[in-house]
Amino acid sequence: MNTLKKFYIIVSVFILVVFIYSFSFHISQNANGPSSDSLEAAKQIYIDQIKESIVGKENLASDSVFSNIQMLKDVPAENLLNIMNKGFSNSLGVGCDHCHNTSDWASNEKNAKQISREMMKMSGQIRDMISNIKEIESEKATINCTTCHRGEIVPALKMKD
Ligand code: HEC
Ligand code: HEC
Repeated sequence: MNTLKKFYIIVSVFILVVFIYSFSFHISQNANGPSSDSLEAAKQIYIDQIKESIVGKENLASDSVFSNIQMLKDVPAENLLNIMNKGFSNSLGVGCDHCHNTSDWASNEKNAKQISREMMKMSGQIRDMISNIKEIESEKATINCTTCHRGEIVPALKMKD
């Protein structure tokens, strides 16, 4: 066998191994539903689209930029998107579509959206209750969605085994 042939064989085996490796990696990534990478990518596409549609109004109050804001009225529009992404989606471990019809963000058609408004009220009440516990020494004892949800739609009632 001449050297050139050997070289070609080695190169093809190498390419095959890389191909099989990346393919099996792809499968293992998707074994448990959509990987967090593809969830992040999907959210980023929506966020970029919305940011483009509000150019110049990023710092205005959300209720003057969006059409169906009942709770987060004074939050600057750009911050609302951060709350949606980091505060809501990540703490429940879901995409935007869990609470939204993604072709009509203002719509209330998904129950999870209205539930989230009630959850915001509830969280505010719990924050007040915590700040009334005088014996707590921590100066900023507080809670948010993550405190309970921890990346899951239904908060745990018992420790994982
Ligand atoms: C857990 C539920 C939940 C998730 C997940 C969520 N949202 Fe929201 N979203 C809401 C709620 C509730 C409101 C209304 C807030 C209010 O009434 O103050 C809202 C409002 C909005 C609005 C304003 C719509 C309008 O015109 O009034 C936009 C835009 C938006 N969300 C984008 C997103 C994007 C982008 C994502 C994903 C990164 C996302 N949301 C994820 C619950 C959610
Ligand atoms: C004190 C704990 C606690 C906090 C804080 C909390 N939640 Fe919840 N949340 C729950 C519980 C408990 C349920 C009911 C789960 C079940 O049994 O279905 C729930 C349910 C939900 C649901 C419905 C789940 C579904 O099926 O879609 C949404 C949406 C939700 N929460 C959003 C939020 C958001 C957004 C925040 C922050 C503003 C928040 N929650 C803060 C405890 C909490």
